[in-house]
Amino acid sequence: MKVNVKKHTMMYPAPAVVASAYDEEGRADACTLAFATMCSHHPPAVMIAINTTLKRKTLKSILQTKEFCIGFPSVEHMAEVDYLGIESGYNADKLAEIDYSHHKAEKVNAPIIEEFKVSLECRVIHIAEVGSHTQITGEIVNVQAEEEVLNDKNKIDFKLLDPLAYDDITHSYYRTGNKIADAFKAGLKFKK
Ligand SMILES: Cc1cc2nc3c(=O)[nH]c(=O)nc-3n(C[C@H](O)[C@H](O)[C@H](O)COP(=O)(O)O)c2cc1C
Repeated sequence: MKVNVKKHTMMYPAPAVVASAYDEEGRADACTLAFATMCSHHPPAVMIAINTTLKRKTLKSILQTKEFCIGFPSVEHMAEVDYLGIESGYNADKLAEIDYSHHKAEKVNAPIIEEFKVSLECRVIHIAEVGSHTQITGEIVNVQAEEEVLNDKNKIDFKLLDPLAYDDITHSYYRTGNKIADAFKAGLKFKK
């Protein structure tokens, strides 16, 4: 029997990614985000949502420069990613505290965090206020990946990345599981 449960934002699986941008003095800001997803193939684009009312420093920097990067952490980065999500750049030089390095991205004026093996370089193409959050759509203008996460066809294989997943209801981090099938093929057996 189904029962009503407390209303809550949820999406499964949800990623834990890190958005980064430069502030007006050229310092690198970075914060952890679970509100992040893909939203367009042409142009390739991602959507992130950052809490407007709670004054995230990374939001301010993204809105100023209109450019940002998204880093995909691996399970090995879990504690550092958690720290980037509980401390604010208004209080600390977070990347220095965790001893992480960064450099300017190739195609946008935003910092790429070197420890993360996959990074998206994004240019803001749309901004919308939705309730508590500012939704920012970024066109992906470049993707950088460490060779170790590429498969034999030179494509990113997220299994090799060992990505960090997040559950916003129980506030827990997860490791993702094993591949079980090929999408767009498993359902073919029902097609007439
Ligand atoms: C796992 C995790 C996921 C988070 N997801 C989001 C999110 O999607 N949107 C958001 O506004 N804040 C999110 N946060 C909180 C911010 O990362 C946090 O407020 C951070 O300190 C902001 O840093 P800043 O002020 O340096 O930008 C998340 C935190 C954690 C730990």
